[in-house]
Amino acid sequence: MDKWKLRNITDVSPSPWFPIERHEVELSDGRLVDDYYITTLADVAMVLPITIEGKLVLVKQYKHGQRDFMLELPAGFVQEGKSITESALAELKEETGILTTADNLTPLGHIAHIPTKSTQVVHAFLATNLEFNTTQNLDDLEEIEVVEVLPSEALDLVLSGDIWGSDSAYFILRAAIIYPEYFGKSSDGVSQPLGPVSQWVKSRQSIFPNSFTGEKVSDEVILQILENANTAPSHRNTEPWRFKIITPSKLEDFSEFLQAQYKATTNEDTFVERKYKKLRKKVMASSHVIIISMQRDESESVPEWEELAATACAVQNIYLSLSTFGLGGYWSSPALVINHISKYIPLAKGERNLGLFYIGKVNPEGVPPIKNKGPLETKLTWIR
Ligand SMILES: Cc1cc2nc3c(=O)[nH]c(=O)nc-3n(C[C@H](O)[C@H](O)[C@H](O)COP(=O)(O)O)c2cc1C
Repeated sequence: MDKWKLRNITDVSPSPWFPIERHEVELSDGRLVDDYYITTLADVAMVLPITIEGKLVLVKQYKHGQRDFMLELPAGFVQEGKSITESALAELKEETGILTTADNLTPLGHIAHIPTKSTQVVHAFLATNLEFNTTQNLDDLEEIEVVEVLPSEALDLVLSGDIWGSDSAYFILRAAIIYPEYFGKSSDGVSQPLGPVSQWVKSRQSIFPNSFTGEKVSDEVILQILENANTAPSHRNTEPWRFKIITPSKLEDFSEFLQAQYKATTNEDTFVERKYKKLRKKVMASSHVIIISMQRDESESVPEWEELAATACAVQNIYLSLSTFGLGGYWSSPALVINHISKYIPLAKGERNLGLFYIGKVNPEGVPPIKNKGPLETKLTWIR
């Protein structure tokens, strides 16, 4: 694959406001195309401004291309004779009345706009600790409403599609990933650490197989989830978590094992047909079932409880990773499994089973609302 060769350029701009070039190009296979049109509109300098109060400054403007109002980051064309940073500072001042200096601009990267038909690149910068210290100075056709939101709200506006200009949306998402500290602060400057992370942690819940659709996901998805589990902390970095994964083709086999164990460990008086059937139902509704265990290191260098705690941290990471894939699951630790799993798959010396983790595709309508935990105060003792 080669780049196209440019044979000739003709300026066919209908007006100085909209430069268009007609290109004669030779494609990599030798074909000639004599009417390939592109626009050479100037590059754009964009700013993601955050005020000293921790607010992100947006501008609301009518955009005739879309025949609608759009909420965007302040931006404008890179002006002739001015550098990209000088243009960014000028646009910020003109559109919002915020004056700052080049040393307060941190590059956020650049993005290609309609790369098939346009040469335009949008360059963006993060600017922080800003104040409305001067007056707006709008261009002839500009009418702008300055809108201040919390950075976390701006992120929500991107996710809801209310900020949908590709450049603004991209740079807000990019800034949120690179500089999460700005996106978790409240307006009064009091730290609400990791706003989106808190939401995510608080929305974690056990989802049981009766809310699973029965659909199966690829082993690759499970691997990604377990990669997250593998980042858990452990004392002396013993990394004691071990996972044996029942894949879709072995679910039937595993459910037969559980049912057989149930039969073998209950007598006629205690046998409950409903429980017996449920053992199979839960496994078959799942996509994968993970056998969780904890492996002590040979020298037992840390107490067992620490290894159990580390494994539980890994399981919490599994819990937290599920929703991204539309999955749910729960940790189940029946004696039937804890005491007898080695009949299904051998455990190594020093390996202790901690139950199963059922994972399945979730039917969102079947998920009960999140149960609030009991009050935190009852679990706290402040030492002041
Ligand atoms: C270590 C551990 C073991 C559990 N074992 C079982 C179990 O054997 N059977 C069961 O129905 N639920 C089991 N659960 C799930 C809990 O009973 C409970 O339903 C769950 O933690 C609900 O809270 P959540 O929605 O905040 O996750 C277990 C949970 C944990 C953390």
